[in-house]
Order: sequence, then C-alpha cells, then structure tokens
Amino acid sequence: MKINTAEFIISNSDVSKCPNEPLPEYAFIGRSNVGKSSLINMLTDRKSLAKTSGKPGKTQLINHFKINGNWYLVDLPGYGYARVSKSTKETFQKFITDYFERREQLVCAFVLIDIRLEAQMIDLEFITYLGETGVPFCIVFTKADKISRGKVDQHIAAYRKQLLANNWEEMPPHFVTSSTEGTGRDQLLQYIDEVNEG
Ligand code: GTP
Ligand code: MG
Repeated sequence: MKINTAEFIISNSDVSKCPNEPLPEYAFIGRSNVGKSSLINMLTDRKSLAKTSGKPGKTQLINHFKINGNWYLVDLPGYGYARVSKSTKETFQKFITDYFERREQLVCAFVLIDIRLEAQMIDLEFITYLGETGVPFCIVFTKADKISRGKVDQHIAAYRKQLLANNWEEMPPHFVTSSTEGTGRDQLLQYIDEVNEG
C-alpha cells in the first residue's frame, strides 16, 4: 500500500473526544520506549509525525493520525514506566483501558515487544487483558536491528513458548520490525490493507 497522506488530527485523554467518523483504526501499544511512535513514523515514511524520544514516557495522550483520508493510526502512551509497583488494575491508565473497551472503530491493536528481551510479565498481562476484552491484536517485535538475524527466530520461538505457557493456544499473527532499517514495513502495511479491504 502506498501512503499518500498522513495527517495529525487530535490528541486527547478522553475516548469520547476521539474522531467521530466510522473509519477503521489501528492502535500501537506496549511498554514505554518500545518504539511505538517510531514505528508510526516508519510506516508513514514521515520523520516526525509522531513525537519520539530516547527517554521513556514521551507519548502521554491518545493521538490520531489519519492515513490516505480513510483510516487511522493511533499512537498511545506506553505502560510499565511507573517507578512504584502497582496492582494490575492501576498498571494500565484508565483512559487507555477505556480506549480498548469502548472504541468501536478499533479493528486491531498492535502490541509492541522489544525483540531483545525475554517475555515480560507486564506484556503478558496486557495481552491477557486484550484477550479477555475481545480486542483483536497482533504482536510486533521491534528493534530487530539490535540483534543478529539468526537470533530473531530464536527469540520469537522463545516468546511463543512463553505465551503457550501462559495459556495461549497459539502465537497470534506477528511481525518483525526495525524502524531504523524499515524492516517489516511492507508486511504491516499489507496486513492493514487486507483488514481494511475486509
Ligand atoms: P513512549 O512514547 O515513551 O511510550 O515510547 P515509544 O514506544 O513511542 O518509543 P519511541 O518511538 O519514542 O522510541 C524510543 C527510543 O527507541 C528512541 O530513542 C528511538 O529512536 C528508539 N527506537 C525505536 N524504534 C527503534 C528501532 O527499530 N531500532 C532502534 N535501533 N531504535 C529504535
Ligand atoms: Mg511514543
């Protein structure tokens, strides 16, 4: 798919104030600093459409970007950056869970996972939450440029094993990406295209 236009529309922390059109949207979620905003820039081929930072906690609101005038990419704040440990319920900010529970336009969540790390409890909890909430999702492994190609398959196999150990029956659809190298761009855009075409 070719991206002809990518425009920032609105930021807010209230799901009822998100754009009111019946257009499909795809949301990026995951731990702070995993590369959500960078991936949006990579997919749209715009250097700073979404704001990125080397420090965790950059994205603080729900950000809607309209693509080709007929679908949305949604950048969300990360989770897991709180210094104090919190109960699961408090771990994910209320407006984020409101978004996943109430946003009818959401057709697929992309859960970003740093490919270098072993499965983290907080991600497994979030994936379980999405499953219970009935939100369709894919896993997007990020920062693939940081490990050797040989290790990529090894890390994905280890992740799959962890998911199965956490009562998932199978690995959801997944992608391997690098925002610095453009890895996975064609695959993700093709997936979105297929979902949009229904
Ligand atoms: P929050 O908004 O704080 O939740 O973070 P985020 O998930 O949006 O991460 P962001 O895109 O701001 O990127 C965090 C850092 O990781 C930045 O320094 C990026 O340059 C870096 N980064 C993101 N993606 C990649 C990647 O694919 N490869 C490499 N090497 N660095 C990346
Ligand atoms: Mg961000």
